[in-house]
Amino acid sequence: SSSLDVDISKIRVGSELRVLIGGKPFFVRHRTEVEIAEARAVNISRLRDPETDEERLRPNQDGGLNPAILITSGVCTHLGCVPLGPNQGNVGDYGGWYCPCHGSHYDTSGRIRKGPAPLNLPVPEYIYQNGNIVTIS
Ligand code: FES
Repeated sequence: SSSLDVDISKIRVGSELRVLIGGKPFFVRHRTEVEIAEARAVNISRLRDPETDEERLRPNQDGGLNPAILITSGVCTHLGCVPLGPNQGNVGDYGGWYCPCHGSHYDTSGRIRKGPAPLNLPVPEYIYQNGNIVTIS
């Protein structure tokens, strides 16, 4: 299996890094304070695939959470297109990602909010080596 070390300190606030690991795309997003607040404010009982924002973060090197960095699969859970995001200037109706293939909208936690996709963008395995380097696998 493949893995990749990503230097999250190089990702500007409000943008994301797109990486390929074993040929599959992943998103590493440096969320703004507003995006984090929006992700946390959602009533998850209304969601198609209910998960809190905290449940979508893995522990950092100190065992806490780093809500600024959200890491997800870059594969739409509908039929596998790669959604657009902040770097493409289209974050959809919920501020996260938009899949143009059939119109799925994901929020700033990568949760499906509108359109045909059945599930949230999956969260991969990853480990914080320190405050800057995250190994995604
Ligand atoms: Fe993304 Fe269909 S593949 S909406």
